[in-house]
Amino acid sequence: MKVDGRVFRTIWRDAQSGNVAIIDQTKLPHAFVIAELRGVDDAWHAIADMQVRGAPLIGVAAAYGLVLALRADASDANLAAAANYLATARPTAINLAWALNDMRRVLAPLPPSQRPERAFARAGELADADVAVNDSIGTHGLATFRELASRKNGRLNILTHCNAGWLATVDWGTATAPIYKGHESGLDLHVFVDETRPRNQGAALTAWELAHHGVPHTLIADNAGGHLMQQGKVDLVIVGTDRTTASGDVCNKIGTYLKALAAHDNGVPFYVAAPSSSIDYGTYAGTDVPIEMRGEEEVTHMTGATADGRIETVRIAPEGSPALNPAFDVTPARLVTGLITERGIIAANADALARAFPERVKAAA
Ligand code: MRU
Repeated sequence: MKVDGRVFRTIWRDAQSGNVAIIDQTKLPHAFVIAELRGVDDAWHAIADMQVRGAPLIGVAAAYGLVLALRADASDANLAAAANYLATARPTAINLAWALNDMRRVLAPLPPSQRPERAFARAGELADADVAVNDSIGTHGLATFRELASRKNGRLNILTHCNAGWLATVDWGTATAPIYKGHESGLDLHVFVDETRPRNQGAALTAWELAHHGVPHTLIADNAGGHLMQQGKVDLVIVGTDRTTASGDVCNKIGTYLKALAAHDNGVPFYVAAPSSSIDYGTYAGTDVPIEMRGEEEVTHMTGATADGRIETVRIAPEGSPALNPAFDVTPARLVTGLITERGIIAANADALARAFPERVKAAA
C-alpha cells in the first residue's frame, strides 16, 4: 500500500545491511517510523511490544526473526532454540506457530551452511504468500459486498473492529482487502471504525490506513456499534481473526464478541476474514484458545499527542484501581455468517473448514 505516494510493505529485508526493516506501529498515527531489527531479540521484542502486530504480520515477523537468528548461528541447536524462543513472544495468534513450524520444516533437513540463505528466501515466500492470500480474500469478500450493496440504495456501511488492515499483514490486510478493492473499483462504501480500546488499533491504525487511501470512514467509540446497528446504519460487520478453531469459533481482538452479538440481534451479517494461516486445525473449541493477558496500564492510561505535538501518556483511572486486560475474546461459530478465506467464503463449522483445507486437517492429525 502507499504512504505519501510511496509503496510500502509492513516488513522487508534491507538489501545493504541484511537487517529486517519494519514500520513501527507503536508510533502511528503520530509518526511514520521505520525500525530496524538486527537480531532475534529485536524480532522477539518487536512482536511482544507490538511494534508489529496483527496475526499474519506476527507470523511473517517471526519467520524473519528466525532468519536473523540463523545469520548468527545456523546450527541445529540454535534453529530449535530460536524457534522456541520466538514462539513465546505472544500466545494467541496461531500464525506465529504456523510460520515457525513452516520455517523449521523447510530448514531442518538442510546442512547449516545452506540455512541462512534458504531461511531468507523462505521468509520472503511466506511474505509473498500472505499478500496473495489477502488479495484473494479481497476478491471473495468484494463479491459479497457487491451483493449486499445491490440490495439497497446508496452507500454500503461496513463496521470493523481493531486493525485487520494492511498494517496487520504484509499487505492488503484481511478485513480491509475487500474494502480497498471495493473502494478502488468505485463501490460506494463507508467504514465505521471501532476505536478498539485499550490499545486503540482502530483509532490509531485502521483510521490512519483508510485516511491515507481516501476511504470514507468514521471513527466510533467501541460502545456505539450496537446502537448504530439498531438504527439500521450498518450493512455488514467484517473483522479479522487471530485464531479460528477447527469448529469455526473465532478468536479475535477483545470486543469482537460483543459486536457479533449485536449483529446477530439486529440481523446484520457478520463476516470474518480468515486466511488459512489463522486457522488452527489442532484446536477444536474456542474455549481452548489461550487468551493473552496484557498489562493493567493499557487500561488505566492513554497515550496521545498534545496540541504542540508531544506524545504524552496520561492516567484516566483513579490511582490504585486495579484493572483487567484480556486482549482477545472468542466469538462462537453460530454468530458468524461466513469465513472469508483465500479459497472462498465458507460456513463457520467443522465440515466446511475440513473441506476447504483438507491438507491442513491431514497435517494436524
Ligand atoms: O493485539 P493485536 O493488535 O495484534 O490484535 C490484532 C487483531 O486482533 C486482528 O484483528 C487480527 O490479528 C487479525 S489481523 C489481519
